[in-house]
Amino acid sequence: MAGWGRELLSPAALLIVAQLVWAPDPYGEECRSKTYPPSGPTFKGNVPTYVINLDLPPSKRWDNLMHDKKTELKTVVQNIKDIANTFFPSGKVVDIVDNKIARLTATLPYPFNEELQGIANSSGIPLGEIVIFNIFYEIFTVCTSIVAEDKTGKLYHARNLDFGLFLGWDVKNNSWTLTRELKPLVVNLDFQRNNKTVFKSTNFAGYIGMVSGVKPDLFTLTMNERFSLDGGYVGIFEWFLGRRDGMWMGFLTRTVLENATSYQDAKDKLAKTRLLAPAYFILGGKNSGEGCVITRSRTASLDIWDLDIKKGTWYVLETNYDRWKPPLILDNRRTPAMKCLNQTMQENISLPTIYDVLSTKPVLNKLTVCTTLMEVYNGHTETYLRECPDPCSPW
Ligand SMILES: *[C@@H]1O[C@H](CO)[C@@H](O)[C@H](O)[C@H]1NC(C)=O
Ligand SMILES: *[C@@H]1O[C@H](CO)[C@@H](O)[C@H](O)[C@H]1NC(C)=O
Ligand SMILES: *[C@@H]1O[C@H](CO)[C@@H](O)[C@H](O)[C@H]1NC(C)=O
Ligand SMILES: *[C@@H]1O[C@H](CO)[C@@H](O)[C@H](O)[C@H]1NC(C)=O
Ligand SMILES: *[C@@H]1O[C@H](CO)[C@@H](O)[C@H](O)[C@H]1NC(C)=O
Ligand SMILES: *[C@@H]1O[C@H](CO)[C@@H](O)[C@H](O)[C@H]1NC(C)=O
Repeated sequence: MAGWGRELLSPAALLIVAQLVWAPDPYGEECRSKTYPPSGPTFKGNVPTYVINLDLPPSKRWDNLMHDKKTELKTVVQNIKDIANTFFPSGKVVDIVDNKIARLTATLPYPFNEELQGIANSSGIPLGEIVIFNIFYEIFTVCTSIVAEDKTGKLYHARNLDFGLFLGWDVKNNSWTLTRELKPLVVNLDFQRNNKTVFKSTNFAGYIGMVSGVKPDLFTLTMNERFSLDGGYVGIFEWFLGRRDGMWMGFLTRTVLENATSYQDAKDKLAKTRLLAPAYFILGGKNSGEGCVITRSRTASLDIWDLDIKKGTWYVLETNYDRWKPPLILDNRRTPAMKCLNQTMQENISLPTIYDVLSTKPVLNKLTVCTTLMEVYNGHTETYLRECPDPCSPW
C-alpha cells in the first residue's frame, strides 16, 4: 500500500497534469441534449444482471458471478500487481499481499469475511489479492452523483462511476488501462431473500461493498470518495496494524442497503457510524424533500446538505470536493454539471435529461466506466457502459 503515493508521480500522469495546467479546461462543451436513449460513440453497451441469493451461505453467494467473470477479474488483478511490481521490483509487495493480508481477512466482520473467502475460492485468485481489490474501490472512486426532484415530487438518483485514476495511462489509444479493463466487470446485482429483491446495486464483479444501490420504495444510495487530509488514509493504515473500531465504507453502504428500514434510518447510520476513511454519501428517499449529501470524516458527519424545495434547492450534487470549498481547478466537474442542471430546470428534470448532464464533458471523462440511473419506485435501475472519445478530459 505504501507505493500508491508514489504512483501519483508516474511520468504519464505528470505529463497530463502539465498539459492541463497550461491549457485550463480545454475539454468542456455545451450541455448535451437528447443523448437518451443511449447510443453513439459515448455508449459502450449494456451490463448483465445477476441474482445474489442472500439465503445461501456467504461463501457460496458469489459462485455464479465468479464462474462468469473470473477471467476478467484476473486481468484486472494482474494489472494492479504489475503496477505494484514496477514500483517495487523485488516482488515483495505481492508476497505481502498474498500472505499477510489474507490473514487479516479473518478479522473482518461476518458476512464479509466469508464472502471474500468464497470469491477467492471460486475465482482461483489468492484471498489477499481479492481483499486488496476490494480496498482499491474505496480509494480510487472519483465520481459525480446527483439526486434531483421534479415538479411532481418524484425523485431521481444518478451517477457516473469514474475509476482508475493514475493506474496506468495507455499512450497508444489515449485511455486508462484499468478503466478499460474494468468495463467487462460491471454488473447489476439483485440481492434476494426468499426469492424477493431486498436491494439492487451496480458493482464491479469481485467487489462485495456497494458504491451505488437502491432499496426499492425506501431509498437510493451512492458513495463518492473524499480526498481529505483530516485523517484521510490513516484509518486504513491503522486497520492494517490491527485497529478494528472503524468500518470499511463499502461495508457500511452494503449493511445500510441490506438492513436499514427507512430513509431516516439509512441517513442516521451513514452519518454516525465510525469509518476507516472519509467519504461522501449521497442518499435519496421516496418522498418530496428526501435527498441529501452527507460529508463524512472518519468519526463524524461534517455537513448534511438536504434538498429544500421551498428554498429552490431541487437537486443536490456531489463530485469529490466539499461543497463549501471550491473544487480543484484541474478537476472541476461540479460547475459544468450544475450549469447543465440549472439549464435543464426543475420543470424538465427526468432520467433522460440527467443522462444528458452526465454525458457532458468533463462530467463524462476518460475515467468514466459507467452511468447508473435509479428511481426508488420499484427499485428501477439502468446502467450503461461509457466511452469518452477524443478530445476528452483524462478525468
Ligand atoms: C471451494 O470451492 C470448491 C469448488 O470450487 C468447493 O468444493 C469447496 O467446498 C470450496 N471451499 C470453501 C471453503 O468454500
Ligand atoms: C488499446 O490498446 C491496447 C494495446 O495497447 C489494446 O489491447 C486495446 O484493445 C486497445 N483498446 C481500445 C479500446 O482500442
Ligand atoms: C425460489 O424459487 C425457486 C424456483 O424458482 C425455488 O426452487 C426455491 O425453493 C425458492 N426459494 C425460496 C426460499 O422460496
Ligand atoms: C443484515 O441483518 C441480517 C439479520 O440480522 C444479518 O444476518 C446480515 O448479516 C446483515 N447484513 C449485513 C451486511 O450486515
Ligand atoms: C445553479 O443554480 C444555483 C441555484 O440558483 C446557483 O446557486 C448556482 O450558482 C448555479 N450554478 C451554476 C454553475 O450555474
Ligand atoms: C422543457 O421541455 C419542454 C417540453 O418538452 C420544452 O418545450 C422546453 O424547451 C424545455 N425547456 C428546456 C429549458 O429545455
